[in-house]
Amino acid sequence: MRRTLIFLYLLSASFTVFAQPVPTLTINRERIIAPIQPTMWGVFFEDINFAADGGLYAELVKNRSFEFADPYMGWDLDLHSYKTTEFQLINRGTAAPSNPRFLRLKITDDSSYISLTNEGFRGMGFRKGEEYDFSVMMLAREGSPVIRVELLDSTTVIASATINGLDAAWKKYSVRLKAGETTGRGKLKLTVLGKGVVEMDVISCFPVNTWKGRPGGLRADLVQWLADMKPGFVRFPGGCIVEGRDLANRYQWKKTVGDPNERQLIINRWNTEFQHKLTPDYFQSYGLGFYEYFLLAEDIGAAPLPILNCGMACQFNTSELVPLDQLDPYIQDALDLIEFANGSADTKWGKLRAAMGHPQPFNLTMMGVGNEQWGPQYVERYKIFSKAIHEKYPAIKLVSSVGPFAGGDLFNYLNPIMRELKADLLDEHYYMPPEFFLRNATRYDKYDRNGPKIFAGEYAAHVRNTDGTNRNNWQSALSEAAFMTGLERNADVVHMSSYAPLFAHVDAWQWAPDLIWFNSLNSYGTPNYYVQKMFATNKGTHLISVTENGQPLTGQDSLYASAVWDEATGETILKLVNASATERQRVINSSSRTVKWKSAQLQTLQADSLAEINSLANPRAIEPSTRVIDWKKEKATIRIPGRTVVVLRIK
Ligand code: AHR
Repeated sequence: MRRTLIFLYLLSASFTVFAQPVPTLTINRERIIAPIQPTMWGVFFEDINFAADGGLYAELVKNRSFEFADPYMGWDLDLHSYKTTEFQLINRGTAAPSNPRFLRLKITDDSSYISLTNEGFRGMGFRKGEEYDFSVMMLAREGSPVIRVELLDSTTVIASATINGLDAAWKKYSVRLKAGETTGRGKLKLTVLGKGVVEMDVISCFPVNTWKGRPGGLRADLVQWLADMKPGFVRFPGGCIVEGRDLANRYQWKKTVGDPNERQLIINRWNTEFQHKLTPDYFQSYGLGFYEYFLLAEDIGAAPLPILNCGMACQFNTSELVPLDQLDPYIQDALDLIEFANGSADTKWGKLRAAMGHPQPFNLTMMGVGNEQWGPQYVERYKIFSKAIHEKYPAIKLVSSVGPFAGGDLFNYLNPIMRELKADLLDEHYYMPPEFFLRNATRYDKYDRNGPKIFAGEYAAHVRNTDGTNRNNWQSALSEAAFMTGLERNADVVHMSSYAPLFAHVDAWQWAPDLIWFNSLNSYGTPNYYVQKMFATNKGTHLISVTENGQPLTGQDSLYASAVWDEATGETILKLVNASATERQRVINSSSRTVKWKSAQLQTLQADSLAEINSLANPRAIEPSTRVIDWKKEKATIRIPGRTVVVLRIK
């Protein structure tokens, strides 16, 4: 990719080298329009595309408790012989409702064995020299068999350990293994050797190197992408996963807290959602549950934003509804969640949070009621939720649906009603072509300044490729950047925004495009990620005006601009997007009476071709470059190459 080396010239205002006078962009540092909300740029997490199990949740073993619909999915059993070995799946039923099944292995001959190998989530990632914690719940009902534990690179052993002296009662056994090689197609193999009967459950293997080194924690490289973005909030757990295909399949936060081994697994709704993208091994173990989401948000300095089911299953699927007179348990879930997050350790749910390791509150300030709900059924349910929550917790802000699209009949029905109801935040969703984003940089200019605030909760530019998939190419990222100047220019109305979805496994995804892609070993940020990061890490504290001929730049001459001031550093931050293929030039003029500019930091994100992408093979084809420049004059001329996003931080 060609990098543009020099494109900013500092010239006196009177310097004329161009035939045409260069138009002037005027930043008015004195005119503060609105504060920028700390939540302005956030992230939307949903367990789609193997984002949780097989992704952020660092567990390497798929189907660790044999609770998938097919109990041996992910496992390969190798019996020495049918004569001397036997396997059974025991189901405890209601005696152990959250984890009923375990495996019983019987060997009747000392020279026999049974081995079971787990394939991980499209392969396990092991790195040479790094350590992995293996553990298993186990007992020896008869005899004293030995268990060999091995990490494999396909079929080659790259680490091994032995467990013996098994107890006759259930006990957790753990060993730490160091990988001798790096592989993204690793497996875990257990071999039971010698006569006896062994029972096994919750067979697990985690890297020692998780985020913050927490045992059983999150994948460090994936959290790092989020931390680097400094998002203002984390929305979780979705998305349609909140709603479920039917109500039995909805997300219920209470089933995702407490001991991870007691969290009952359910099918992931994306398992069967798309016929062309079936992923039969997609389940939710809830190892990444609500406590872990709150902790993640806290770790990366983001506000937590949980979204709860409001008694409505996905209206694109079953549209199953809870009758209004049976809504209480759903409302109670919402009230209890606030207690779980904020209540003292003396309260029922606050006590659970404290017992899980977090006596201090998580400072929950907002919550979503339903995801992409629509129609009068939503209005009826929202009213009941809002009344109950606000009566008990008046300070909690509620995010409400305005339907799955930011226009059309469903939106036009719900939007005025939610405004009438004085909703706090309206959650708008738009997955649209790049042209929509270029055209809609002015979308919020016309919004009522005194109405509900806007949460652009799910958006992404979708570019259809010749192979039928949507890819995170430069065209999509560039158009989103142009649009985001419009979000920022309207920061008095737009209080929150998030690209969606966040993560995707390269070999197991259902929905594209996505912000961050990964396999079992590596990950990369898309150009869209870098756009998000450039905005989020340059969000400033106050919106100020930037104009050309007295007008905001919203696509005239294919340019888009917004500007903020950062109270903490005293810097003026200008974002400029050139969506055309050719260079543009502008004189930048600070009309400030009080501020003298000294130097500037210039960050640029650029690609020559709209089709350019990042990938695992070439993860940094498009990434920002930064340099510091002298900026002594009050005016300077800037050249913005074609198809470029620029962030200028002026001291
Ligand atoms: O982001 C993917 C899906 O798109 C979300 O689950 C849903 O809210 C929207 O339809």
